[in-house]
Amino acid sequence: MNYQWYPGHMMKARRMMQEDLKLIDLIIELLDARAPMSSRNPDIDELGRNKARIILLNKADLADKSRNAQWTEYFKEKGFWVQEVNAKTGAGIKSIYPLIKEACKEKIARDRKRGIIGRPVRATVAGIPNVGKSTFINSFAGKACTKTGNKPGVTKGKQWIRLNKEVELLDTPGILWPRFDNQAVGEKLAMIGSIKDELLHMEELAGALLGYLLKEYPVLLKERYQIITNEDAYKTLEEICISRRCFGKGEVPDLARASAIVLEDFRSGKLGNITLERPEEWQ
Ligand code: G4P
Repeated sequence: MNYQWYPGHMMKARRMMQEDLKLIDLIIELLDARAPMSSRNPDIDELGRNKARIILLNKADLADKSRNAQWTEYFKEKGFWVQEVNAKTGAGIKSIYPLIKEACKEKIARDRKRGIIGRPVRATVAGIPNVGKSTFINSFAGKACTKTGNKPGVTKGKQWIRLNKEVELLDTPGILWPRFDNQAVGEKLAMIGSIKDELLHMEELAGALLGYLLKEYPVLLKERYQIITNEDAYKTLEEICISRRCFGKGEVPDLARASAIVLEDFRSGKLGNITLERPEEWQ
């Protein structure tokens, strides 16, 4: 589901997240591997201050493999546990269990000291809209979908999915608001599809994407659309109109249709494995 974020929505999301956080030990934070920092909630570090945390680079299947490795390193250096995943196929998901154990080591040791043995780690999944939270919960929970129902002291309506003896997962994810720091961030969020298309100027957006691809992934563009000029974004869009036969009345290039094709090809991975940002831009 897409959201348009107003201050009221943000306050509500924050309140709900704070409620969830009272119940949990671990936050499983989902980022979009194609734009890990732009898809990261700006306040998560503060909100999740006292909780264990795992970062998942989701949609890793759509992103640039070498940059996935760079981003994994980046977040590891910042002290997080990190894993690349494809929530749709489940790739990478098994590796999360050992990470949970590592991330929650201190909590387990603390429990043990107090004589509490075998109390499961309680986790919640959090991330901005469309990052893949529901898909991930379905994949991660898989057949282990035994809902444990309401527990005393637990907010009414919250349900836990018992993944195994050691981990319980809140069945509804925490929806976080995205960054609004600057235009470049908003643009990347629009490119990856986390802002409603109706709110966007599609030709401008496709132009910005093409500008980036001409610089960073020219070969992928050439392969997909047989473009030859490699000059500017607008010319490239016109060439795509020709190679994809997007013409309006009077054989005028239909830039809007070509823009929709480019964005759809990028979002679905048909254009290839592409990442829109590099760690060094965020040091
Ligand atoms: P949300 O709860 O965070 O809002 O996201 P949701 O799970 O609804 O996922 C948003 C879209 O992203 C879905 O596509 C989903 O299939 C896709 N998705 C989630 N994780 C991955 C992943 O790791 N790799 C890829 N390639 N796609 C992923 P959709 O187009 O809305 O639905 P569908 O056509 O796939 O069913």
